[in-house]
Amino acid sequence: MPNTPTDLTNKNLIAWVEDIAALCQPADIHWCDGSQEEYDRLCLSLVNDGVFIPLNADKRPNSFLCRSDPKDVARAEDRTFICSAEEKDAGPTNNWRNPEIMKQQMTGLFEGSMRGRTLYVIPFSMGPLGSDIAQIGVQISDSPYVVVNMRIMARIGSAVLDVLGDGEYIKCLHSVGYPLSEGQADVAWPCDVDNRYIVHFPDDKNIWSYGSGYGGNALLGKKCVALRIASSMARDEGWLAEHMLIVGIESPEGKTTYIAGAFPSACGKTNLAMLISPEGYEGWKIKTVGDDIAWIKPGDDGRLYAINPEAGFFGVAPGTSMQSNPSAMASMQENTIFTNVALTDDGDVWWEDMTDELPEHLIDWQGNDWTPGCGNLAAHPNARFTAPASQCPSIDPEWENPKGVPIDAFIFGGRLSNIFPLVYQSFDWQHGVYMAATVGSEATAAADNQVGIRRDPMAMLPFCGYNMGDYWQHWLGMEGKVKHLPKIFRVNWFRKDEDGKFLWPGFGQNMRVLQWISESIQGEAGAEETVFGMSPRYENLNWTGLDYSSEKFAELMALEKEASVKEVESQSVMFDELGDALPKAMIVQRDKALDRLG
Ligand code: OXD
Ligand code: MN
Repeated sequence: MPNTPTDLTNKNLIAWVEDIAALCQPADIHWCDGSQEEYDRLCLSLVNDGVFIPLNADKRPNSFLCRSDPKDVARAEDRTFICSAEEKDAGPTNNWRNPEIMKQQMTGLFEGSMRGRTLYVIPFSMGPLGSDIAQIGVQISDSPYVVVNMRIMARIGSAVLDVLGDGEYIKCLHSVGYPLSEGQADVAWPCDVDNRYIVHFPDDKNIWSYGSGYGGNALLGKKCVALRIASSMARDEGWLAEHMLIVGIESPEGKTTYIAGAFPSACGKTNLAMLISPEGYEGWKIKTVGDDIAWIKPGDDGRLYAINPEAGFFGVAPGTSMQSNPSAMASMQENTIFTNVALTDDGDVWWEDMTDELPEHLIDWQGNDWTPGCGNLAAHPNARFTAPASQCPSIDPEWENPKGVPIDAFIFGGRLSNIFPLVYQSFDWQHGVYMAATVGSEATAAADNQVGIRRDPMAMLPFCGYNMGDYWQHWLGMEGKVKHLPKIFRVNWFRKDEDGKFLWPGFGQNMRVLQWISESIQGEAGAEETVFGMSPRYENLNWTGLDYSSEKFAELMALEKEASVKEVESQSVMFDELGDALPKAMIVQRDKALDRLG
């Protein structure tokens, strides 16, 4: 086999690569060593093939722009499957197919799918190399774009094979599904959009992804391994794989409290992961450990410890600016791959809301001329930057600690314009799990239920690799297993007044809420019991440097009784859907909530 590492002894891995090569029939095989030299060589060949556009080396050193097929621009949830042996184990919130039938069908798709291309073998570690919490996977892919993105998003290459030894690994097979016949010219973004399949076989820890080259469909370490497969491993092994940012909140005295937080998309999760205190309120600091995924395991001391399994950020570019997130902007200053953003005339990148002033001319994400007012978006709304986490100015010195960081609180939030106050703490663990399970954001288009909340339990709806009811039970069951359970909070930055104006300024001001959370964990914050949970009084928050009246705060925290009752009642839609898998504790919690509401 070409360039197989000479010291490779993992017979299972060698055999698997041979089997896949026989099936997919690539022209060549390349085992990735993960070196800078290899990365540079692949980027250069992507440039020579017209796939990557090198950006202006003075403005954006060692960075590239790539444009995808206009139909292959996001995760394909309706094409994503959890193929557990039995349908009930995938549960009603996942697509399920019989694993044998799916494998048969997909084997047909993979047959000859890499003809004319190179098969890349990408050994990767999710989490710091050798960490007890980390996991090793091997992705086979026929996309060099995937290889270079994976090198930023995970630890890849020879060092991973050394740690793996003869051990087991998660098998990830990926093909863009665009074989080339003899003499056939390639396209810039090969894919097979109409036949996309992103398929998980949790029982044998396999992932098969076909037809897409984009994001979570193709960079299989992220959503497929680190959330869907890992969540099912975590259930079996007694830990948590969560769609959560991880940050340290550092007090002016230098004490750090770590929290993990889950938010559905479009709630500013990356901004919160890199939050900077507003002017007039200096002293409190956020230290970034991760912006998207947390793997959390009980430690010997009875606390929970979390690692960020990823090594980079795959962030949404539009909306990111020096105002909204200067640390993200700094993270992508160099060594970054941009996908589906616009190109400026001086060879840099641009997207909507990056600057107040619009550029006079751009090349848009589809390669067409763009001028202000032309009616087209310059960047696709799901355009991304792939940047090394190590380049983030707020990165925590502990972010690669193989032991992880101790988690003292979980926070959950959605985008909700009414009913939900700024912040409150759960009465206890079960109440907290119920708060997390019923979180959601306002449905943007047609509402799914009476009050228009699109439920996204623990922000895991598209990412939980097994039955959602069993997942809630797994969370509830932590109570018996973990001695020092984190506290649980809900936050809502998005409540509006009667005129539809935001009641809370958000962004950096959210630090005041994080201070209260951090002080609550230390037992140093004041709170009062409300129908929601334990809520701060006006005087319990630090208002230094912000003119915010107690009347406005009362509005921000107010109870809308009738709407609240409706909201609690509407939870039955999802509860009923889960049927037998719904833990009884959830019904108890819902009844308690109704009782408190009178
Ligand atoms: C992401 C997502 O890209 O959650 O992180 O969709
Ligand atoms: Mn995410």
